[in-house]
Amino acid sequence: MCGIVGAVSQRNIVPILIQGLQRLEYRGYDSCGVAVHQGGELRRARSTSRVAELNEMVAVDGVEGLVGIAHTRWATHGVPAVHNAHPHFSHGTGHEAKSAKAGRIALVHNGIIENHDELRADLKARGYAFTSQTDTEVIAHLVDSLYDGDLFDAVERAIAHLKGAYAIAVFCRDEPLRVIGAREGSPLVLGVGVGENFLASDAMALAGVTDQIVYLEEGDVVDLQQGKYWITAKGEDGAARSRVERPVKTVHAHSGAAELGPYRHYMQKEIFEQPRAIGDTLEGIEGITPELFGDGAAEVFANVDKVLILACGTSSYSGMTAKYWLESIAKIPAQVEIASEYRYRDSVPDPRTLIVTITQSGETADTLAALKHARSLGMTNTLTVCNVSTSAMVRECKLAYITRAGAEIGVASTKAFTTQLAGLFLLTLTLAKTRGHLSAEQEADHLKAMRHLPVALQAVLALEPQVIAWAEDFASKENALFLGRGLHYPIALEGALKLKEISYIHAEAYPAGELKHGPLALVTSAMPVVTVAPNDALLEKLKSNMQEVRARGGQLYVFADGDTRIESDSGVHVIRMPEHYGALSPILHVVPLQLLAYHTACARGTDVDKPRNLAKSVTVE
Ligand code: AGP
Repeated sequence: MCGIVGAVSQRNIVPILIQGLQRLEYRGYDSCGVAVHQGGELRRARSTSRVAELNEMVAVDGVEGLVGIAHTRWATHGVPAVHNAHPHFSHGTGHEAKSAKAGRIALVHNGIIENHDELRADLKARGYAFTSQTDTEVIAHLVDSLYDGDLFDAVERAIAHLKGAYAIAVFCRDEPLRVIGAREGSPLVLGVGVGENFLASDAMALAGVTDQIVYLEEGDVVDLQQGKYWITAKGEDGAARSRVERPVKTVHAHSGAAELGPYRHYMQKEIFEQPRAIGDTLEGIEGITPELFGDGAAEVFANVDKVLILACGTSSYSGMTAKYWLESIAKIPAQVEIASEYRYRDSVPDPRTLIVTITQSGETADTLAALKHARSLGMTNTLTVCNVSTSAMVRECKLAYITRAGAEIGVASTKAFTTQLAGLFLLTLTLAKTRGHLSAEQEADHLKAMRHLPVALQAVLALEPQVIAWAEDFASKENALFLGRGLHYPIALEGALKLKEISYIHAEAYPAGELKHGPLALVTSAMPVVTVAPNDALLEKLKSNMQEVRARGGQLYVFADGDTRIESDSGVHVIRMPEHYGALSPILHVVPLQLLAYHTACARGTDVDKPRNLAKSVTVE
């Protein structure tokens, strides 16, 4: 993960670097730092607090310059501490911003260098002193060791020694108006300005600075100077590197700096935005047609007879929900795989598979790698359901459905999940129609129910006060079980993930029928058991499972559809949802689980939008 910004300009670039970091904090927030070329030396400021504090540090220390790089870190190698914070200097000896003398090379990095141990041993043997546990410092020393007056040349030579994934930005004390960037496996964009050029992990970091963006490709190295830049690409099959032109795109990136309005946290705001987000995602859809997924979709859909969904975390749970829809409505075999597992396992490829990736960010390293793996196995019919139209995933897939959730800032995914479900339901209907399993009447009914979702969601959001009362009970718990069946089992999984992610309460989800095969042993009066209870075909089975919990003294917290006739009783707490919403019910049932996690976390006083150890966008494997 981690976020990078770099700049070469004719004005002081520190405010731009700091603003960029603020917009990239979603990529990690264990520490942050900035380095500039100032007074003929490298100067830096680093902090294990948030970017706002770094901003104060640079103001107090008078850190400014025409050239600089900055970084926000999600720790991989080495604990979150100032000495591990980027930028790293070659020959670094812990000199901080006020120091007159520091190293020669300044470098920031996003990714993981797999052979850092060997490189470190070699560099140590050559006299380089290390001040951090990071793999990044190794690259700084490596570039230094290869530097012979031309930084671009040193970086090109250095990356030939690196194994793993990286995006880097580097500058050198001895070449004051130059920043070099390179990428392999981690995202990096070039922002082209007038008399100035920039680097960033995401175009969003440069919103308002420049909208002229070059998406660097794997293996690219870029040389940024005040009024010019150039790029070299790696040669095919061992051929020498050569200069390339990459298209400059006009990107209207959103700064992501959404106002909180009346909300306490972005997560709460984003939960309450769901009626709008679903409305926007479905806007303008008059009928079910393959073109909703892009040009050429009809041909792709006609050539597939199974679906393989690849995703991580919350996005994998929307995929699991879609599997139920795809098999029951479109009658197409569907499989869901966790991207980080799929990419490394032996599987049996079938070229008539539609590969569907699901990702809010479109930058998740595991999901991107899983897509590439599927393609390398000959499965080239690819589609993504993604929230970021400019992302690597959208660029990599043949077809796309762009959800219109808007920027999601809270680390815990909420509106991205429900809008993914909306996109995946449309995909289900489209494949059903293509395969002759959707009558005109069914199509009209489904579309009507989809259009009504924003209103139905408002009714569920109105349950917030009742959920807050439950959250007060949950705040003192250390464990919770979530139960669901069928289409709502993935919703139970998502509810458990939300709770553990932001409240740090250990939570597990099970298909309710599986309880008696083991987890029932955990049930005591101290164990809250959250039950997702829609009025569907499995309701009677679910009620029996609830009895199994009550018989062991477990406390049931049931989100029951209004028409289920499940009543509150001793040890049975019920929040009554609206009436059953048919196939789209998961979109409603996940919302009170999001609210429960949110209010429990608030009651425990955790950092809701930036939970410990996590980051919004997981760009390392
Ligand atoms: C969920 O709340 C998460 N923070 C996480 O599981 C997330 O869904 C996962 O990392 C996948 O991200 P993506 O959708 O951007 O690919």
